[in-house]
Amino acid sequence: MRDQVSVLFTEEQIARRVAELGEEITASFGNREICVLGLMKGSLVFLSDLIRRIPLDLTVHLVRVTSQREQAAGRVLTEIVYSTSVPLEGKDVLLVDDIVDTGITLSYLLAHIHEHAPASLRVCALVDKPEARKIDVHPDWAALPVHEPQADRFLVGYGLDWMEHFRGLPFIGTIPRPAAR
Ligand code: IMP
Ligand code: MG
Repeated sequence: MRDQVSVLFTEEQIARRVAELGEEITASFGNREICVLGLMKGSLVFLSDLIRRIPLDLTVHLVRVTSQREQAAGRVLTEIVYSTSVPLEGKDVLLVDDIVDTGITLSYLLAHIHEHAPASLRVCALVDKPEARKIDVHPDWAALPVHEPQADRFLVGYGLDWMEHFRGLPFIGTIPRPAAR
């Protein structure tokens, strides 16, 4: 299976961007404590590298959502299926996402988190595909913006999966776009 993956971002390129983002995020939070909320499972590898580049007091929490997309009916059902207990009220929250594609998952999560009255809420994504957006929502930081024609490729590796496979690749690569996901 691995031989079907072509490299898009190397391990070194990713590490450089993660280090840069860590510095930017650190500077922007001043000396405040951060509540880092990682979106499972795609952001796990990114999350573990990123928090080691943010030398501030921080706590780490996880949340998991599912999306069922009924293309024909044009309906999307997004729901939170797992969450570590996170007291978000009054906290400076940094949501760590894997890929912002249509924006449906992110906008749902942002609305949900806002209900818990955080002091601030910002988003850091590993990959941003701005041209694929169906909902106008944007991460505050994106490590790797991917534009046309690459935006049409399906990305795997460094935590990103296709049907749960490829999460352990140390780089990000593309596979021929699967028919359904
Ligand atoms: P959105 O709700 O359409 O923005 O979808 C975001 C989610 O879809 C991400 O969190 C990923 O889990 C998944 N996703 C979107 N594009 C890709 C891709 O190219 N590779 C792997 N997962 C993807
Ligand atoms: Mg996913």
